[in-house]
Amino acid sequence: MKGTISVKRDGKWVTFSGEYEATTPVTVILSELNSRDPLLDVKGREVEPIEWECSCGQKVCGACAMVINGTPRLACSTFFGEAGPDIRLEPLSKFPLIADLKVDRTQMYDSLSEMKLWLDEGVDAKVRNIDLQYASASCMLCGCCLEICPNYTGRGKFFGAAGMNACFRIADQLDGAAKRARLKEFARHGDSGCSKSLSCGQVCPQNIPLAVLISRMNRDRIISRFIRD
Ligand code: SF4
Ligand code: SF4
Ligand code: FES
Repeated sequence: MKGTISVKRDGKWVTFSGEYEATTPVTVILSELNSRDPLLDVKGREVEPIEWECSCGQKVCGACAMVINGTPRLACSTFFGEAGPDIRLEPLSKFPLIADLKVDRTQMYDSLSEMKLWLDEGVDAKVRNIDLQYASASCMLCGCCLEICPNYTGRGKFFGAAGMNACFRIADQLDGAAKRARLKEFARHGDSGCSKSLSCGQVCPQNIPLAVLISRMNRDRIISRFIRD
């Protein structure tokens, strides 16, 4: 099937043409384009190879997240048959741009660190909600939930669904003061900035039940105000 691939570069579209199977993922299309020597756009002008990121190629690492036809998605699990025949690719806009489709997601990693999302040495961790824990642990920090979030800007104290999801995973294993400390981080960096539009859950490539996790944390936070264990 014939189609076009348009890539946002320095605020303008660079368009290529190609012919692909319906089952060809966008990552393979980008690799194929970059294998052309020289790489020519639809008007026959020679252009630089496309900058983009990919690691696992199988929906595990999150590196290939980008905006595809206006929606944040993983390029390795988006196929020509569903996104084509004319595909538009843009970088995630909530992160500093490196080049073309490549962004710097350091701010997301830093926010998890600021929320102190780890288990301290020697802590007596308990697994309470095993199914939710399992789902939550599949987060690959792709950033799609932050891209779609109307309230996440990448600045300020609101860390979005990626932060709230990780916070759930840690707080759910803790008790007492340690749990209350994580719930405080959740209130400060999550709940206080979240307007519950729930669009994050719509785009999460891992289908993590973010609405359930967020409401579970809210419930625990309210309970912790009144009950001390
Ligand atoms: S919660 Fe989902 S969308 Fe958000 S970073 Fe994790 S895997 Fe990506
Ligand atoms: S529920 Fe809405 S405001 Fe809250 S993190 Fe998700 S997308 Fe953002
Ligand atoms: S390349 Fe790893 S998730 Fe797409």
